[in-house]
Amino acid sequence: MAIAVKTEHLTKTFQHIMHKEPVNAVSDLSIEVQEGEIFGFLGPNGAGKTTTIKILLGLVYPTSGQAWILDKPAGDIETKRQISYLPETPYFYDYMSGIEVLDFYASLFGIDGAKKRSRIEELLKIVGLYQDRHKRLSQYSKGMLQRIGIAQALVNDPKLLILDEPTTGLDPIAHSEIRDLILKLRDEGKTVFLSSHQLSDVEMVCNRVAILNRGTLIKTGSLDELLLAGQFKIEAENLDKAMIEKLKEVSTYIDSKSNVVIIEVADGEKVNAVIDMIRPTGGRIISILPQRRSLEDLFVEIIREVNKK
Ligand SMILES: Nc1ncnc2c1ncn2[C@@H]1O[C@H](COP(=O)(O)OP(=O)(O)O)[C@@H](O)[C@H]1O
Ligand SMILES: [Mg+2]
Repeated sequence: MAIAVKTEHLTKTFQHIMHKEPVNAVSDLSIEVQEGEIFGFLGPNGAGKTTTIKILLGLVYPTSGQAWILDKPAGDIETKRQISYLPETPYFYDYMSGIEVLDFYASLFGIDGAKKRSRIEELLKIVGLYQDRHKRLSQYSKGMLQRIGIAQALVNDPKLLILDEPTTGLDPIAHSEIRDLILKLRDEGKTVFLSSHQLSDVEMVCNRVAILNRGTLIKTGSLDELLLAGQFKIEAENLDKAMIEKLKEVSTYIDSKSNVVIIEVADGEKVNAVIDMIRPTGGRIISILPQRRSLEDLFVEIIREVNKK
C-alpha cells in the first residue's frame, strides 16, 4: 500500500522576538502513515501538532528534515488537489448558507453544473446538514460548523484529509456525530490524519497513533499494540496464604477475598513467573487474560513519565 504521510527527522525551531531561547516546536520527528489508515496524531497543547500539519501542507518550512505527502515532497502543487485540510479554528463566511458555502468551494475546484449539484447534495447528506442547508452559518451551532467544514474539506474528493482537532470544544452529541462521520470516511477508504487531544475519540476511530510531547515523538504504533502491551489478569484457585504473600511480590494487584484469586501483572514474563510459582504447589490456574488499557491511561502515564525527566 502507498504511503500517505511520511516525515524523516522533521524539525522546526521558532525564534521568538520576545524570548532569547528558540522554541523547538517539532524535534526530529519521523512518522509514517499508510493509505487507508485513520491516524491519530496526539499530544497536549503546544506539543507541535499544528506545526507538523502546516509543514505537511507546505505552509511552513521545516528547519531541517523532510516531509512527504502521497509520495511527493510536502507543498507539491499537484498533490494539493488530492488532500484537504480542516484547520483548528476554521474561518467561515457566516452570512452564507451551508449550501452556498459548498457551492463556492466546488466552483473553486472547477466542479460545475449537474455534477456540482449532485456532489453538494451528497455531501450535505453525508454530514447530516441537508435539512439545514439554507440556514446561514451564523445560525449554525459549533458542531454544525465543524460538519460543514468537513463537507467543505470533502468537496474535491480528497485521498487524504487532515483534520486539526476537529472535536475540540464540541458538546458530547456533536462529538459523536463527528466521530461517526470519520468512521464513514474510513469505510470509504479515505486516509485521515487526525490531530487531537480528545483521547476517547481517537480510541474509537483510529487504527494507529503517534504520541507527541514538546515536539518529540514519545510513542507510535497500532492501538492494539499500545493498549494490549503488558498487563495480564490471572485467575487461580487452591492457593494458600503463604503463596498469596509470595505472589504479591510479582503482581501489581491481587484480590484474594474469595477462593478464586485474581492476580494482575505488568508483563508477560511475570505471567510465567506466576505460573511457575503456582503449579508445583497444586494450585490451579483458571484463566490468563491480556488486559486492555484505555488510551487515556496510557497517555497520562507516558506524558507524566517524560515530564518527570
Ligand atoms: N509561528 C510561531 N512562532 C513562534 N512559536 C510558535 C509558532 N507556532 C507555534 N509556535 C510554538 O511551537 C510550539 C508548538 O505549537 P503547536 O504546533 O501549535 O502545538 P499544538 O498544535 O500541538 O498545540 C508551541 O510552543 C508554540 O508556542
Ligand atoms: Mg494545534
